[in-house]
Amino acid sequence: MRAFKIYRWNPDDGDNPRVDTYYLNMDECGPMVLDALIKIKNEIDPTLTFRRSCREGICGSCAMNIDGINTLACIYGLDEISGDVRIYPLPHMPVVKDLIPDLTLFYAQHASIMPWLETKTNRPAKEWKQSIEDRKKLDGYYECVMCASCSTACPSYWWNSDKYLGPAALLHAYRWIVDSRDEATGERLDQLEDPFKLYRCHTIMNCTKTCPKGLNPAKAIAEIKKMMLERAA
Ligand code: SF4
Ligand code: FES
Repeated sequence: MRAFKIYRWNPDDGDNPRVDTYYLNMDECGPMVLDALIKIKNEIDPTLTFRRSCREGICGSCAMNIDGINTLACIYGLDEISGDVRIYPLPHMPVVKDLIPDLTLFYAQHASIMPWLETKTNRPAKEWKQSIEDRKKLDGYYECVMCASCSTACPSYWWNSDKYLGPAALLHAYRWIVDSRDEATGERLDQLEDPFKLYRCHTIMNCTKTCPKGLNPAKAIAEIKKMMLERAA
């Protein structure tokens, strides 16, 4: 038997948040943290609330704080945790219910960086072409699943999330800045030229350490800062 200590809060009952403990027989449970959560919800407590969809690390919806680490429950193995399994919502975000954080601001910040291909020349007859070398520049950035693990692990984001865009939005900003087909690079950099939006990153590196997809938002941020310097020179 293994103990799962899970953060609970229901906005409708007026009670304070609490931690509930559930026990599961590991011989009857799948290998991932999400398997355990689904088993608890199906067999012990249907009121336990969490987000999930793909169960293979591509939708980004099951991000939560597991054993002190922001990660995706569906690709985090129970064998990576010793002792009781402690599960909390992503830190420093308003909670909607139980393990569900309110990501409204996070998504608005993503929208603010213009997450699309911005072009000015006439549309080509078939498609916007890109060389193999230029396409390679997007590797390590396009794979982001917008799980918010990185931004919610960042102390600068905890303290200034109203003004600092955070590692996830900045990684996406860089993904479009570096795209050879995009024709709004200057505009994108202008938008980020701000003491808070970009420069509140103090290279703490929690983002890169925690990313469950193995991406490096800190590098993307450093590259944007470098481009700012180069264009000012
Ligand atoms: S960079 Fe990694 S941790 Fe951050 S939102 Fe994307 S996938 Fe999640
Ligand atoms: S359920 Fe989709 S990333 Fe975990």
